[in-house]
Amino acid sequence: MNQKTENALNEQIKKEEYSSRLYLAMASWCEANGFPGASVFLYEHSEEERMHMLKMIHFVNDRGAHAKLLDIEAPQLEYNSLLEIFTEILVHEQYITESINNLYQVAIDEKDYTTANFLQWYITEQVEEESLFSTILDRIKLVGNDKAGMFHIDKELEGMAAGSSSETA
Ligand code: FEO
Repeated sequence: MNQKTENALNEQIKKEEYSSRLYLAMASWCEANGFPGASVFLYEHSEEERMHMLKMIHFVNDRGAHAKLLDIEAPQLEYNSLLEIFTEILVHEQYITESINNLYQVAIDEKDYTTANFLQWYITEQVEEESLFSTILDRIKLVGNDKAGMFHIDKELEGMAAGSSSETA
């Protein structure tokens, strides 16, 4: 692969690593602040992002280039609510979708069809992720400040984590 595509893939590897770290920080906040279900869900999602990163690292190295780990900034550590967390996640995933689309365009412009084909998996994954987080956020908004409702959502998130772990490839 050419240098431009390699650099663009390395930038995306950095973003996937950052996503993993961001969700890890959010999971830790949830665990420390009485949201055990959301915490399990986010720890698992952090692992999923790590998988996205590793998949890309292996692809770059298998193509004879070199996947390099770049500096990542520290994620936000303190939050006020699940509403804040899931609002930020949706915004972040929309940013990642845009980034994957831009990366796909680089591959097409550089006529690197193998990379473009590889990126199809990420494009589909982003559709699923945006849909998932948008659904969760809608439910959180519906509950508002109702404590019993929030307790129920926390339980539901734990169930979603258990349900999705077998799907993680
Ligand atoms: Fe790697 Fe949540 O996208």
